[in-house]
Parts: sequence; structure tokens; C-alpha cells
Amino acid sequence: MENRQDATPVLDTIQQIRDEGLYSFSLPGHRFGRGIDSHTARVLSRSTFEADVIMAKSSVGEAEDLYAEAVGARQAIFTTCGSSISIHVGLLTIAGPGSTVLVDRNVHKSVVASLILAGANPVWLRPAWDHEREVAHPASAETVARALEDHPEIDAVLLITPTEYGTGADVKKVADLCHARGVPLMVDEAWGGHFGFHPDPPTAAVQAGADIAVQSLHKADGGLCQASMILVGGDLVDPVDLRLRLDLITTTSPSALVYGSIDGWRRHLALNGKELIDGALQRAGELRDQLRSVEGLVVDDESILGCEGVTEWDPLKLCVDVSALGITGYQAKEWLSSERQIAAQLGDARRVVFSLTYADEEAAITDLFQALKALAAEPPRERRPAPAVPALEELNLEQVMGPREAFFAATEQVEDPVGRVSAEMVSPYPPGVPAILPGERFNRAVVEYLRAGLAAGMTIPDASDPELATFRVVKD
Ligand SMILES: Cc1ncc(COP(=O)(O)O)c(C=O)c1O
Repeated sequence: MENRQDATPVLDTIQQIRDEGLYSFSLPGHRFGRGIDSHTARVLSRSTFEADVIMAKSSVGEAEDLYAEAVGARQAIFTTCGSSISIHVGLLTIAGPGSTVLVDRNVHKSVVASLILAGANPVWLRPAWDHEREVAHPASAETVARALEDHPEIDAVLLITPTEYGTGADVKKVADLCHARGVPLMVDEAWGGHFGFHPDPPTAAVQAGADIAVQSLHKADGGLCQASMILVGGDLVDPVDLRLRLDLITTTSPSALVYGSIDGWRRHLALNGKELIDGALQRAGELRDQLRSVEGLVVDDESILGCEGVTEWDPLKLCVDVSALGITGYQAKEWLSSERQIAAQLGDARRVVFSLTYADEEAAITDLFQALKALAAEPPRERRPAPAVPALEELNLEQVMGPREAFFAATEQVEDPVGRVSAEMVSPYPPGVPAILPGERFNRAVVEYLRAGLAAGMTIPDASDPELATFRVVKD
């Protein structure tokens, strides 16, 4: 019998237009690559331009239906400007001016931007702090329940799960808590685009009851950069509202390449996802076993499921603690890049994190093992002090103004911001979680953490002063 998931409406339309030899006097001006020079063609490939067929957007609706069917969503909406835009769209749908949203404080900066755009007020959900690993896990369902009790004014809830470190919240329980109050639940599931294609946990948020799930298909998955997905579940969110919000803020010239990559990825995973992800899980398991025998490295495994807030765990996130080697994760990341041409997903004060996917070949996994073994045998000599990571409680900053009010207030740059109200986001990247955001009051711990982090190799791309000599605060 014919498998509907075998179809690729967007890819077929791109192919058909190329085969028809259509000459377009419309956009894009490069005329399917005819106009590009040989240098550009060498680097980007002429076929990239040949496939840049904007008319292919006419078949996106059909491709979205197939996607929704494949992952058990009510609707799927493809977006081409990254999950940052999908998050803006989702938040603008569940919240508006003056509404109150219970939001994970561990959010990506795009969520804070969404609050600013919407003029919504956050009630912060404090993540669970793992004192042993010095890392944040999702807030527990009990914490969400307490917050909902304490703040009956909450209109919507936004969780981030899984975290950049692969630990996941109890979405099912949180969805039940929200729905008992008629409150929609949105999940930033940027790292979980493949979850819906494999039966084992982690469970895809939309299958666990989320009303909106946002996924970056260019992260652990097969989409081109900026490929993102908004999945709608349940009946608390009107998909028409979502599309109107998307129309408000996205481009009118979406990339056919990005759409095509989502379409092809869905077909590939719908047909072969179980086998592909099984392969990735097996490689991850074997690599973990090998790394366990390397002195000086500590690798996270399923025992993390016992920690507060951790209901699900993604074994494809490989977190390797290198602190026993006397180096930071920043140094390990730099060393892997310069000495072994291996790029890690992130380095932090203690560890390096690798995103393993369905696409990795055995040889790459072997190289990664050999590289980590070599790093452990001879860590870089130049020892840089690890910035003391303050306990989460010390970074629980007081929100004294709404994010929008503070962002648009009169501001000034000051050398000593302690006690002042921030007018900016300062987000160590990755993961891009703001250490401070507009409307929060600076304390000494956050200032010292950021300055020491920068000196130790932390990347902070969004600070108004990249050297952190000054910070942008609301004028008194
Ligand atoms: C958890 C999370 N949410 C959202 C985003 C934004 O995704 P994008 O880069 O696709 O805009 C990121 C990006 O790093 C992320 O890690």
C-alpha cells in the first residue's frame, strides 16, 4: 500500500519548476543561479541557487499536513527564520499586552525578546539546581503546581525542555496542571525535533499534551539553518491565530531551500527514523562506555534521571565533565577545535557538550573518543581559573520592572551596576540563556560571574559592552 509519508510536496515542486525550464522575471534576481559568479558557485554550489525557487511555498501547506500526521500534532507550521521567530510567534499567540506568563527562567533569549514584543509580564519559574554538577535542570511539576496556585493571574505557561544539557521536564504532568485551569502550555523543544519520530523517551512535547511546541530542525536534526517548526496540539490554541502572528513578524520571502529541507527531513524520518535514531543511540551508548574508562573524564548517563526536575533524559547529548583535569570546558572546547578540528556544541566552566545525531558516522565517533582520550592524557598547560559558578539562588535576581518597560526606558552605561535595574540581556552563549535581563536588578554575584566568565573564555555576544567594563541600566 502507498505510504503517504513517502511524498515530498515541496521538493517535488522545486524539481518540477527546475525541469520545466521556467524563466522568471520575478525574484530572486540571480535567475536560478544563472547570474552568480564562479567563485560563489564553487563555494555554495550552483545547484543551491537552482533550487532557490520561491514559488515552492505554494506546496508548503500539504507538506505541513504530512508533518503533523507523522508526529501526531493537530497542525504543523514551518518557519524559516529559526526557532527565535517561532518562539516570538508562539508567545504572541498565548500572551499579549499585560498578560502574565509563567516562564522558565532558564529560557533562551528569544523568549525574553518575545515578552518584550508582547508586553507580557513574566512570573519566573526557577529551574532545579543540581549542586553536584552545577547545572540547571527543568523545574519540577511540583514547582509549576505551586506557581499556578500562588499566581492565579497566570494566563499561559512556557517551559524549555530538554535543556541544552539534555535533561527534560515532566511535560505530561505540567500539561495536565495547565489544562485543569484552561491555561495553554507552550514548550520550547528546540533540541527535540526528532523525538516525535522514535518511540523511546524523550517524549515529544506535543505527544505529551503541549498546546504549542517549537523545534529547531537545524539543531539535532536534518533541516538547513533556520529551519524551524511550530506544532499545535490540543484545542486551547487557535492555529489561525498562530498564522496571523507569524504573518505579522516573518519574512514575505521565505527560503524554499529551508522549506525543502524540512520536507525531505520529515520523509526520511517518517520512513527510517526508528532505524536512524536507534543507530545514533547505539553509537552514543558505546562511546559513553569507552569514555567511562578514561581517567579524569566524567560522563553523564541515565543516573541523571534521579535528579530533581529530570523526568526525561536525551542520551544523544553527551556531557563530559573535564574539571578533574584542572581545565575548564571552555579550554577543552578550544583545544578540540584547534588540535583536532572537532567542534563541540558548548563548553562551560566544567564541561564540554556534544550533540550526537542520526547523521554521525562511526569514524567521527571514534575520532571524538580518541580526541577526548588525548585531551585527558595531556590537558592544555595554560590553566585558566574556572569562574566560580554561583549557586542558582545567588542568580535569582529580583524582577523590579517589566522587561518591555526596562528595555524601552532611558538608559545609561555604568561601571558598577550592582543595585541598578538592567536595560539589557547579557547571555553567555551557548546556550544563550540570559544571566540578567531587562527589568532585573543586578547583584554582585551576577556581575562577578559574568566578568570572570568572560576572562575564562565565555562567549557573550549580546552585551551592550562586549568587554563588560560597563553595563546598560535604566536611568534613575
Ligand atoms: C533552547 C533554545 N531555544 C531557542 C533557540 C533559538 O533557536 P534558533 O537558533 O533556531 O533561532 C535556541 C538556540 O540556540 C535554543 O537553544
